[in-house]
Amino acid sequence: MSQALYRKWRPQRWEEVVGQDHVIQTLRNALRSGRISHAYLFAGPRGTGKTTTARLVAKAVNCLADNSAQRPCGECKHCIAIHSGAFLDLIEIDAASNTSVDDVRDLRDKINFSPNEGRYKVYIIDEVHMLSTAAFNALLKTLEEPPEHAIFILATTEVHKIPATVLSRCQRHEFRRLPTATIRSYLTDKVQEEAIETEAAALDLIARQATGSFRDAISLLDQLASTGEVVSLAYTESVLGTATSEAVRGVVKAIFEGDLQQGMDQVHKALDQGTDPRQFARQVVQALRALLMMRMGNEDLVDVAAELRAEWEQLAAGTSVDRIATAIQAFSRAASERRATWQAALPLELALVEAAGIKDDPKVVEKPQAPDQESPASNRDPAGPATPASKASAVSPEQTSSTAGSSGFEGMLGKWQDVLQAARRRSPRVQALLNSCRPLGIEGGAFVIGFSSDLLREKMEKERNIGVAQEAFEEIYGRQLRLRCVLSRSWKRSDRAGDRLPPIEDEGMVATAIRELGGEVVDVDHWPPDQQ
Ligand SMILES: Nc1ncnc2c1ncn2[C@@H]1O[C@H](COP(=O)(O)OP(=O)(O)OP(=O)(O)O)[C@@H](O)[C@H]1O
Ligand SMILES: [Mg+2]
Ligand SMILES: [Zn+2]
Repeated sequence: MSQALYRKWRPQRWEEVVGQDHVIQTLRNALRSGRISHAYLFAGPRGTGKTTTARLVAKAVNCLADNSAQRPCGECKHCIAIHSGAFLDLIEIDAASNTSVDDVRDLRDKINFSPNEGRYKVYIIDEVHMLSTAAFNALLKTLEEPPEHAIFILATTEVHKIPATVLSRCQRHEFRRLPTATIRSYLTDKVQEEAIETEAAALDLIARQATGSFRDAISLLDQLASTGEVVSLAYTESVLGTATSEAVRGVVKAIFEGDLQQGMDQVHKALDQGTDPRQFARQVVQALRALLMMRMGNEDLVDVAAELRAEWEQLAAGTSVDRIATAIQAFSRAASERRATWQAALPLELALVEAAGIKDDPKVVEKPQAPDQESPASNRDPAGPATPASKASAVSPEQTSSTAGSSGFEGMLGKWQDVLQAARRRSPRVQALLNSCRPLGIEGGAFVIGFSSDLLREKMEKERNIGVAQEAFEEIYGRQLRLRCVLSRSWKRSDRAGDRLPPIEDEGMVATAIRELGGEVVDVDHWPPDQQ
């Protein structure tokens, strides 16, 4: 089996590390003159050379070359052992999978034994920010008084998560994201060496997609070259670009339409086509960022294809900045997840569930405490006739209550997803708008829906939109119904009777999450917000 390119190309000498000269120079000079620190912290984005450099340090301090300026030589017994992963005094710990205190205590117990073969025992703790607080404390004890023969190299992509007490004991080095041009020229050299046939434009695209990470650039190239075909721009685009962008678009739509199943389908389709999960997550983040810009009225900053623009403007209009931000965070995490090889789709699936906003789902509500009861007599709707919404149609309170039947508002809520679907069949825009509102109750014979912003409320109240919504309501509830659009936070219900909500866990997104993904309900929002 051929070796993954990123392993094969992992720098074995200081000179081979690209673009981190400030770090390499400092380390090299210090080590050459015997100034060895017992704790280093390498911080910086993924795939920029932290682990690589940590191994070079391990080599340099254990290399058998006489001339210290030549270390690591890459040729002595120790250099070779480290290169092949067989050196007993280099201990690499992945903090992400060894986060317990016991692991760190275990390390502390062993650390006092002198090195087996080398001069120094080198501990590389990768992703050190993943350690638990207790484990950090245990580590701290070791860092306070490390034995002479021990060197710690802590690596992290999230330096802000490292306690100050640990930071203060380490010599810190910052790794930088690599410029696209640097990655491009590196790839150009390497493909020549390896006689991999590529088009320059393809390398350009790969370099851009890597967003500063050598590892990502190399694994992408590796994936593209593994077919043995020429790595052409068209091929690269088809793997990365067009094929993926369809799926990215599908995922983004699914998130804001609350269609988990659709989202899952898109994710699996993309992965089945060989798309790298992290790469995919990153593209979703890019797309969401565009959506965020649109939502905040900065369309000009967004580079979205013309035919997509209209669709996205609708999506943006139908959701809140908060929801987009939540989705961005969820997919950013998936984009930086590195330990999911045994189940490639999982980080994306979890991000999807989170981004689709389960807690926003109208189904996640308290179980009803009392049997519901519609009380038309106490319905009052002072604002009703004046709102634009009321123009679309009008029914009397009595009619409404009979519509709602004995199950009242609760019964209607049970079909809310159907209303969304019915709206979607007519207009995705109206569905998006309905998706961004919350059904609040029945008042004065009108079905009240609440929006988080006036902007959205006004959009919904546009005659065209409210008309479509009304049709959807009519299709599902079997009769004409007046819709009233309000601002959620300023709406005060005059009568709560009958406003009962369905229990959780029987249908919709939450149920899907519980059934299909083994989720459990950990928190239930009071909903509507002002209900006890
Ligand atoms: N600065 C660099 N110069 C040359 N190659 C690099 C550089 N950075 C990374 N690489 C390539 O990428 C691969 C992965 O790099 P490395 O494991 O050092 O990244 P890292 O910073 O530890 O990333 P992570 O945070 O994801 O662990 C290396 O095997 C090497 O091929
Ligand atoms: Mg690493
Ligand atoms: Zn050597």
